[in-house]
Amino acid sequence: MNTVTVSASKTYDILIGSGLLEQLGPRARELGKAQTVCLVSESTVYPLFGEKAVHSLEEAGFKVVSFVFPAGEESKNPGTYLELLNFLAENRLTRSDLIVALGGGVTGDLAGFAAATYLRGIRFIQVPTTLLAAVDSSVGGKTAIDLPAGKNLVGAFCQPSLVLCDTDTLNTLPREIFRDGCAEVIKYGILYDPALFSHLEQRGLDFDREYVITRCVELKRDVVMEDEFDTGARMKLNLGHTIGHGVEAKSNFTLSHGKAVAIGIAIVSRACGCADTTRILAILRQFGLPTSTSETADDILSYALSDKKRSADQVNLILPNAIGDSSIVPTPVDQLKSFIQAGL
Ligand code: NAD
Ligand code: GLY
Repeated sequence: MNTVTVSASKTYDILIGSGLLEQLGPRARELGKAQTVCLVSESTVYPLFGEKAVHSLEEAGFKVVSFVFPAGEESKNPGTYLELLNFLAENRLTRSDLIVALGGGVTGDLAGFAAATYLRGIRFIQVPTTLLAAVDSSVGGKTAIDLPAGKNLVGAFCQPSLVLCDTDTLNTLPREIFRDGCAEVIKYGILYDPALFSHLEQRGLDFDREYVITRCVELKRDVVMEDEFDTGARMKLNLGHTIGHGVEAKSNFTLSHGKAVAIGIAIVSRACGCADTTRILAILRQFGLPTSTSETADDILSYALSDKKRSADQVNLILPNAIGDSSIVPTPVDQLKSFIQAGL
């Protein structure tokens, strides 16, 4: 097991290893006084791991109440959020009690936002069960729900009290969802870590999960400690995301997020003349991720600009110079079309 400690507005541990779900109860107990735990999970994950989580929590002396919602991004909405708040209130959770988010990024974002706002904030534990959640969404305290006008438009920065990542839970992930998370893993290698990138090149999908997740989490930890509230260095984590979001939204979200991010990374790498473009395109293909799209620069641009990361008349593009070296480049909106065109 590896432990990574984050010291931001809250200090907390991220535990990464095999078999950790069985330790959920004792680890939650170490956080101090709590009588009731609300386990938040969804319809695919709860049948896989819910019983083990509840058993471990009950063995540690907690009363457990479970809130299980239908799996999928469609549930990350104000309706489910209000249902969850009512559930917490009906079960009389107090400020000393705990929420446990068991699932992927949807569960973590929804449960985290409820934890950030119920009774003006109660503690929560992230138990990520997707690769994306393990390396990204469970760490760093961004919580949110979607509105009809767009994704993640309502949320809060609220750090968890513990992240417990049991690498065994990834064994049941459908291959396509695992690949989606790989786009984020490759992103960390491109942004910060040539050794991580080389490991991924050498091992492909058979990478060492404990090493890779730990390394990604360490890198995210460093970014979050430097820029918890996303005003500077943290923006780099958006590599490939602004243009990727345009491609994803244009497909009416039929293209997965990971594939869209892969296309976004490929487009910016080609467009900015990154010295390692060949290696970047090769690794994306090696992981079964796409590197091109049939969408036009006009369409990608119009959907990308509905993204909330746009500020006034410019967009902060994250440009890879080489593996392990990147820049944040404020780019006027009127130059974006020719930039995208150059990378198609
Ligand atoms: P998700 O939670 O919907 O999980 C993807 C799919 O995998 C779902 O169908 C789920 O039921 C299934 N699943 C989860 N764990 C499983 C397991 N172990 N075995 C089998 N199936 C399993 O989505 P995701 O890809 O984990 O996360 C995407 C969400 O994360 C988006 O809402 C995005 O906005 C958010 N996100 C948040 C942050 C952040 O910093 N807060 C960062 C990145 C993404
Ligand atoms: N997923 C991007 C961030 O946490 O900032």
